[in-house]
Amino acid sequence: MLLTSYGHSCFSVEIKGKIILFDPFITPNELAHNIDIEKVEADYIFVSHGHSDHIADCVSIATRTGATVVCGFEVAEWLKKQGVENTHPMNIGGNWHFEFGKVKSVIAQHSSALPDGSYGGNPMGFLFFLEDENFYYAGDTSLTLDMQLIPRWAELNFCILPIGDNFTMNVDDAIIAADFVKCHVVVGVHYNTFGFIKIDTEKACSAFRAAGKTLLLPEIGQTIEL
Ligand code: NI
Ligand code: MN
Repeated sequence: MLLTSYGHSCFSVEIKGKIILFDPFITPNELAHNIDIEKVEADYIFVSHGHSDHIADCVSIATRTGATVVCGFEVAEWLKKQGVENTHPMNIGGNWHFEFGKVKSVIAQHSSALPDGSYGGNPMGFLFFLEDENFYYAGDTSLTLDMQLIPRWAELNFCILPIGDNFTMNVDDAIIAADFVKCHVVVGVHYNTFGFIKIDTEKACSAFRAAGKTLLLPEIGQTIEL
């Protein structure tokens, strides 16, 4: 599977010819100036919660592409008020069969409000069950025991975990999270974008290596194969 990084927690994957974009936050990200937002394609946009560093460019990309935005019920209601036509509301624990495969929304321990202060419901992560591989995007979350349920549902090929600390898990907890979900290939997100979440990426990679795991940190704009 090809994964393209757009910085912070924004990335896309291609599944069965469909482009799935996650947590669009590009234009306010000073590190992502190499990305032309008009060229970011999406058939689906998955939004983990309502914080602006996950939703800032959602309305503009959804409006331009006509993508279906998959998110918590409250976030979907808010997006509809902003003029987004295609939304698919979910809530934690629920599954849905999309044209590319099944997705389960799972618990993320965090908070959620929309950029204008509207109630954002509960934040979530997403578990993707695909024909030949499965992956887990944790969203913004602390380490939580709920992650131990994930191997009961799916054998993961890779997972996408926040590693920036302060607002989410740090590297040490992300290593434990990778153990909980029984996955050795981790794409790190939610680091270095702003002051509170600056980390030493070399140290992070060697900590994962020491734990027998691989931490992948694609450059902004880079596509990697997983
Ligand atoms: Ni957040
Ligand atoms: Mn965030």
